[in-house]
Amino acid sequence: MIIRKSAAEIEGMARAGALLAETLALVADHLEPGVSMLELDRIADEHLRENGATPTSKGYKGYPAALCISPNSMVVHGIPTEYRAKEGDLISLDLGVTLDGLVADSAITCPVGEISPESQRLLDVCQEALAAGIEQAQVGNRVSDISHAIQVVVEEAGFSVIRSLVGHGVGRSYHEDPQIPNYGPPGRGPQLQEGMTLAIEPMITAGAPDVYVHDDDWSISSVDESLAAHFEHTVALTADGPRILTAAGAALLR
Ligand code: MF3
Ligand code: CO
Repeated sequence: MIIRKSAAEIEGMARAGALLAETLALVADHLEPGVSMLELDRIADEHLRENGATPTSKGYKGYPAALCISPNSMVVHGIPTEYRAKEGDLISLDLGVTLDGLVADSAITCPVGEISPESQRLLDVCQEALAAGIEQAQVGNRVSDISHAIQVVVEEAGFSVIRSLVGHGVGRSYHEDPQIPNYGPPGRGPQLQEGMTLAIEPMITAGAPDVYVHDDDWSISSVDESLAAHFEHTVALTADGPRILTAAGAALLR
């Protein structure tokens, strides 16, 4: 069942989303060669708690940290470790924020220092794919219009969409219906309606699409060790089109 949110709930999610964006920006500011993943996690956790929010991931199905931090060929759900960032890394930061009972979800992939042109292209294409998916989040469209738009951008660039990982509804809880694959033919799945709130999140690699789960039962990496990227926004469907609730600039409006 897809839960449509009231205008008041969407405003609440926007407050969670603004704090989320501010927190990711703060963490990204500290992401320099030498910083450990555990330090980044602590910065996020403290900033959320200072602002009356909690990290949605911590304790979710036993997940132990605030952030998911996934370096290089790790795609998603990386548990923060002692690993220290080094020049040229691509580090994905994925965060859920619960504020006043409402949830927002967003991810960015950040360069550490100078990165290769191919790494930069991977980041650019993943962001373009997210923008193309969001553009399809229109009342009257269907879920797979989002999926298809993402796939086209990624594959035209010569990169791969990971098929076993999906976007999702979000808001009253972390993961709600519908699932939003990042590939597929357009025009399928539930019709999009006003008040739906969706976490749209292309997860892509520069190589093959195959992934595996590490022994920690969380971290997911590419089998061929190709670099991965992940960008995610929480979006509300309005009569005027998609409203991004986790955009960086939104923090200024708080
Ligand atoms: N934020 C992730 C998502 O995009 C969910 C992470 S679940 C966790 O859906 F437990 F690993 F944090
Ligand atoms: Co998500």
